[in-house]
Amino acid sequence: MSETKSTNIVWHEQTVSKESRAKLKGQKPAILWFTGLSGSGKSTVANALELKLQAMGAHTYLLDGDNVRHGLNKNLGFSPEDRVENIRRIGEVAKLFVDAGVIVLTAFISPYREDRDMVRKIVDAGEFIEVYVDTPLEVCEERDPKGLYKKARAGEIPNFTGISAPYEAPNAPEIVLKTANKSIEESVSQLVQHLQKGNYLA
Ligand code: ADX
Repeated sequence: MSETKSTNIVWHEQTVSKESRAKLKGQKPAILWFTGLSGSGKSTVANALELKLQAMGAHTYLLDGDNVRHGLNKNLGFSPEDRVENIRRIGEVAKLFVDAGVIVLTAFISPYREDRDMVRKIVDAGEFIEVYVDTPLEVCEERDPKGLYKKARAGEIPNFTGISAPYEAPNAPEIVLKTANKSIEESVSQLVQHLQKGNYLA
């Protein structure tokens, strides 16, 4: 699905650079790539972080799993091929936001290591910050905010991540969030500290 189909196309260098766009915003653009099981807390922490960053004057954008699947990726399901394409498109969109000078937050299960590494490769060094939302399956299943684990256990949802489809944890994520023993505020401040240390914020 992601093979190159177009021919006779030439890449143009644009007149206004990524650097000048970022400078205007007074921040260092990057992708905060949240990955983890369904119910691990990706969206919750990403939303809370975006709120905090905005209050601090940062220009952000949040790409969220379920929402992107209502629009851009509504023609994709949960087969391995569709998940690969889901992440490929989101990676490209996130890269465009980085180009625009924005700090992007993405909240997708993104179960395959190879796909996340692919996104890391299409942006510059330091622009991909992998945030592993490390919440044990038992805790996610106990939370079951959308009632999906129950359905998956009953065999009503095929290819459900953690139950009947794999999740590959990152080997060397920039940040690990243990949401089972931490408040949302603690996770947010861990992330803000990382961004401040790396001079991403003005
Ligand atoms: S990903 O695997 O392709 O990265 P994505 O983050 O976009 O997944 O979507 C995951 C969300 O879709 C889950 O939080 C859940 O609400 C819903 N969902 C529906 N079916 C499945 C499934 N088979 N596996 C995982 N999540 C599913």
